[in-house]
Amino acid sequence: MDASKYLDRVLLNEEKLQARIADLGAEISRDYAGTELMLLCVLKGGVLFLTDLMRHISIPHEIDFMAVSSYGSGVRETTGVVRIVKDLDGPIENKHILIVEDIIDSGVTLSYLLQLLSPRNPASLKICTLLNKWERRTVDIPVDYVGFDIPDEFVFGYGLDLDEKFRNLPYVGVVNQSNL
Ligand code: IMP
Ligand code: MG
Repeated sequence: MDASKYLDRVLLNEEKLQARIADLGAEISRDYAGTELMLLCVLKGGVLFLTDLMRHISIPHEIDFMAVSSYGSGVRETTGVVRIVKDLDGPIENKHILIVEDIIDSGVTLSYLLQLLSPRNPASLKICTLLNKWERRTVDIPVDYVGFDIPDEFVFGYGLDLDEKFRNLPYVGVVNQSNL
């Protein structure tokens, strides 16, 4: 299956993505120097971003993964109901937790994650998202690191799926609604 059929246009090409991720990695390395940093990747969409970002983080850090689900397969609007599919492997007490997300849309998923993780007493709890659809926000959440602010359009590629496919694309593209 070919992605071009579903692609209206490339929004962020590989060069742009990688340059911004290198900058974010450098910024995070400076901000968290001397601390116990853990990157908490939200599966599955955040995986490509995490693996590229961590290669630009020059300070020692751990990684862990959580899986939450708020979208049924094939559904492109959040249900508003978030469910934990996979929890962290261990405690986060006294660790500096940086949540690594692919995209913030309504903010429902992250607001739920923040509420779930704060009582576990991390030393700090911050958010790093590659993409931010700020126009779509229904829940106000603090976002500490943003790769790109993007318009209210459905995007896929670079971790983000179109019905679970095309996460492997090296770019972020806008979907061609007429071919879905
Ligand atoms: P929120 O809870 O509405 O902020 O939704 C966050 C999740 O919805 C993200 O982690 C994505 O998995 C998914 N999502 C939101 N917008 C898009 C999009 O444009 N393309 C692909 N997935 C999206
Ligand atoms: Mg996600």
